[in-house]
Amino acid sequence: MNKFVIAIDGPSGVGKSTLGKALARHFHFLFIDSGAVYRAIALQALQQHTPLDHREAVAAIACRAQVKLEGDPDALRVYLDGQEVTQAIRASEVTRAASVIATIPQVREAVVEKLRRMADASGVVMDGRDIGTTVFPNAPVKLFLEAAPEVRAQRRWLEERNKGREVSYEQVKAELVERDARDRDRAATPLVKADDAILIDTSTLDLEKLIARVLEIVESRG
Ligand code: DC
Repeated sequence: MNKFVIAIDGPSGVGKSTLGKALARHFHFLFIDSGAVYRAIALQALQQHTPLDHREAVAAIACRAQVKLEGDPDALRVYLDGQEVTQAIRASEVTRAASVIATIPQVREAVVEKLRRMADASGVVMDGRDIGTTVFPNAPVKLFLEAAPEVRAQRRWLEERNKGREVSYEQVKAELVERDARDRDRAATPLVKADDAILIDTSTLDLEKLIARVLEIVESRG
């Protein structure tokens, strides 16, 4: 049976996971948040006090770590070597560490392999930075979301506040711009739009309109 993959790429705060979860629900597809895998590896490196610039040691963690995603798209649980880390991987030091370790080519290779193995269903929605270019270059539907940095920072800031974290908008924006630069400038499979991906600017689109538009695109290719 052929696998139908919807690849969603783009920087932080563009709405990838909100869109991905809505599509997965609509089509009864498996939803895979690829960033969660980088985050789980970063968490293990931090827990083991492995310096993030010790590339071989971090790559060894990436190869060895067992990362599992379980549950519905809206209540996805993340397990690292059998321990639930759903909340722990969202800590701000893990967010930063994930973007650092994601620049290591051997880490990326190990994660790409894990992601392909996880996509064990006839229909898959996967979001990330390199899904349409590297993980599933033959995906029939590739979306690349963009939005103005101010809009993305505002969304992230609201999310942080809703989680009860005291952080300024300026700080959220500065960290987001720093992570974006690392994602776009790294040598190994950087964040770029695949030539055949559809570019969608979500700066002014509300979510319902975005989902309706993407459903039309997917149905036209199904
Ligand atoms: O999507 P996210 O913010 O949870 O991802 C965490 C980090 O992982 C992000 O800084 C970039 C990296 N990442 C990546 O390099 N490639 C992916 N496919 C997904 C995430």
